[in-house]
Parts: sequence; C-alpha cells; structure tokens
Amino acid sequence: MAKDRHSYACTQCGATYRKWQGRCDACGAWNGIVEEAPLGSARPKGLGKGRGRRVPLVGLGEVSATPERLVSGIGEFDRAAGGGIVPGSALLVGGDPGIGKSTLLLQVLAGLARAGRDCVYISGEEAAAQVQMRAARLGLGDAPVRLGTATDVRDILSTLDAATPPDVLVVDSIQTLFVDSLDSAPGTVAQVRAATAELIAYAKRRGTAMLIVGHVTKDGQIAGPRVLEHMVDTVLYFEGERGHQFRILRAVKNRYGAAEEIGVFEMTGRGLAEVPNPSELFLSERAEAVAGAAVFAGIEGSRPVLCEIQALVAPTSAANPRRAVVGWDSGRLAMVLAVLDARGGLGFGGADVYLAVAGGLKVSEPAADLAVAAALVSALTGVPLPADLVIFGEISLSGDIRPVSHAAARLREAAKLGFSGALVPPRTKAGRHGLGLETCGSVAALADRFVDTAGPARRRDPRSGVAADIRERVGDRHG
Ligand code: TYD
Ligand code: MG
Repeated sequence: MAKDRHSYACTQCGATYRKWQGRCDACGAWNGIVEEAPLGSARPKGLGKGRGRRVPLVGLGEVSATPERLVSGIGEFDRAAGGGIVPGSALLVGGDPGIGKSTLLLQVLAGLARAGRDCVYISGEEAAAQVQMRAARLGLGDAPVRLGTATDVRDILSTLDAATPPDVLVVDSIQTLFVDSLDSAPGTVAQVRAATAELIAYAKRRGTAMLIVGHVTKDGQIAGPRVLEHMVDTVLYFEGERGHQFRILRAVKNRYGAAEEIGVFEMTGRGLAEVPNPSELFLSERAEAVAGAAVFAGIEGSRPVLCEIQALVAPTSAANPRRAVVGWDSGRLAMVLAVLDARGGLGFGGADVYLAVAGGLKVSEPAADLAVAAALVSALTGVPLPADLVIFGEISLSGDIRPVSHAAARLREAAKLGFSGALVPPRTKAGRHGLGLETCGSVAALADRFVDTAGPARRRDPRSGVAADIRERVGDRHG
C-alpha cells in the first residue's frame, strides 16, 4: 500500500515521475530520466509514541556565538563563498569535467591547512599518487593536508569517526561515492542523494565544513549537481570556456551570504591564479574602436565588472537567419532585436546576428540591454562607438531605456579604468566620477545617434527612413 510510486527520476534536476518519459518537464533535459530503485518502501508506523529523541527548542533571539569563518587566503574563492567557509556547512562546487574543480579545491584546502586548519581530502576519482603529483606541480606538497582515497561512504565515515573530526573535508567527486545499503550504481540520483545526506549529517553533527565536488553532466549518464542544490548550504559553479584561460566561480545559492557573487581566476601552469581586478582582464584584449563592439559597465555580486560586448551582423538570404549568442541569454537577444525593429525602425530580418561577451563571462543583468543594442546597431551601421565610452541601461518592450541599480558604482569603475564618457538611461545622477554622461531615453534615440554620427545627410524619420537607409547600406556592402 505505502509503495513508493515515484520510481523514475531526472538525473539532471532530480524531478520524479511515475512513468518514463523522454523529456523532463521540470528542467527540459532530454534522455535524463532513469529508473530508480524505490527508497525503502515501508514507511515507519506509529511515530509520536515518545520513542524519538527530544530536540531542544530555542527562541529566535538566543543566538549562539556565530563561529568564525574559515578563510583560505585565496581571496577570489573566499569572496564567492561569502567571506569564507562557515564551519559545519556543506558547500557544493559544480562544473564541467576538466574545468579545474579538483585543482581549485586542492589549492583552497592547502591554504586552509597552512592557516592551521585540520584538512582532509577524500578522492574517489584519482589515486593518492595522482593527487600528490598535482600537489607537487602546484607547489603545495608541504601543506599539511591528509589525503585518502575511498568510494564507500561507510569507509569514509568510519575513517573520520576514528579520529577527531577535521575542520574541513573535501570529497571529490560525489558521483563516484556510494552508500552500500542501496542497490543502485554510483552516480544515480538515489546514490548521489543518499551519499550527500550521510555526509551532510556527519558534517552538521561534528562541525566539519564539507566541500563536495559535483560534475555537471550533459548526457544524463550520472546525476548532476542540480539534484543536490537544495540539500547543501552553498552552491558554487565553476565555469569557463574551454580554450580560454579565465575561470569564474559563481555563487548561485548561499544560506550564509550573498548569492550572485563571483570569483575570477586565470589558469596557469602552476594552478589557478587570482584575478582581483576582472575588468582589466576582460578588456585587456580590446583593439581600437571597431564597429559592433560596446563596453558594458556591469555588476557581478557586489563588484562592478566591465566587459566588452561584440556583435556581428552579416547579410543572409536564408529564410531563417541565424541568431547565435555566447555569454548572454538568447531570449533576451530576441527581445532586443524585436524592440529595435518595432520601436527603432531597425530591421535585422535579412541578416544573421552573432553576439558574444568577450572573455568567457556570462552576463545575466537586464542592465546590459542598452550595451547589446548599441553593439548591434553599431554592427549594422558599420559606425564604431567611441573607444572610451561605457554603456548601461535596461530596455523595456515599449522601447524606453530604464534606469538601473548601482549606477554610481558602475561609473566609478569606468572612470578608474580610464573611460571618459558613459551612455546611460535618463535620470542617472551625475556623481563625482568625472565621466561625461550622455543620456539615451529610447531605442529610437539610440538609432538616431548612429545615423547622426554617420553624417547629418543620412538622418531620416526613425520609423521608416533609418531602416531603408540601413537596408541600402547592407545591400551596398553585399552587392
Ligand atoms: P582538474 O582540476 O582535474 O579538473 P576537474 O577536477 O574539474 O575535472 O583540471 C583539469 C586539467 O587542467 C588538469 O589536467 C590540470 C589542468 N589545469 C592546469 O594545468 N592549470 C590550472 O590552473 C587548472 C585549473 C587546471
Ligand atoms: Mg577532478
């Protein structure tokens, strides 16, 4: 009767189903749903007969002294973790295989160990010798980290229980671990969940901070870290483009601090190096003013980050022109294109559109709309934006440019990096940053700005003239 009816689960997000289906309704992933052995079919009966342990109930005001955060000394990691690791908390570090999770956590653990914390690294993936070789390559061989290899959670817990509990424990990776009381294979949703639950219970009981490595998987063969997001206190994703040396550690959840905070690293032969000023890095490869490039003054977490947005508009005769985006939301691009068309009279219908955020950064702020629109119009008209201009502002469906938060911080960062002007929404306060502010109230005004730059003779009615004018130019270049 009390049979567990949910026996299919999505390996990507953990949603459960009664029947198999090809696509997960919850996260949209294909082929990720697998059969799961039901977790203990018999429910315990007669709870509340006084057999349970009595838990202490306390008032909201009775704060027990907050324990000091464990600081690794790797500033970019500590920042993403919300100012250090909270003792007794569980932190998940997710990312694609090969992105650098093991390297990062070994460096973090060595930093903590050198600061006098008792640190244990359990590897389920690599042999001890492999981890030692990596440590030697990173110059961490002398850090007092205790290293073990195990995949059975029972072995790990027995090992830890035999001695004083460590301050920090790293398990690399959760998909290799298994709980021997479950039949399913390591890496299944049930195993990954059970192993995490066991480890978190240990961590909370003994006050050990736990760092769990989780591989992000695309093919659904093993369960991804999303299955665990709700179980842990903090979720950090380690991202970056293959072939780029930049890596970004992004907090997507933090019960003890601000989410959305990022840490920026550069991959080197001797491990991950911190990048304390990411704006300089993201703008470092910038050439002279070229058409289609715009500098966006963004905010990542609590810190302003400037980055370059690049657009390419290429005429096509295809019925369905391409829209390709790297580092931004493709739905948002479709919206900006539609608004430019309907409110600014700029049609992109006959052209392929490519948009990229330089340096491998992923931008999610709506404040980037205006910079994206400016890059697109610049690419379409062939008129470059001034090289010393930064841009921010949100575009509404009506074509108006809306103010955004933290304008002063964005402008200060731009001034610090030597920019001299900013294209901003109306009513942005002029602060003491020394930038020349130019306001832009609508996408029609933005379109005019380019046509004006191209020469007063080209100025036409924004609803029809600009579009015709631009079609002419696109036609000229092509024909
Ligand atoms: P690794 O940390 O093993 O990735 P993950 O644990 O996420 O699968 O790193 C992958 C490879 O990249 C490894 O061969 C080492 C190399 N690497 C460097 O050479 N320098 C670096 O700074 C990093 C992060 C990795
Ligand atoms: Mg690894």
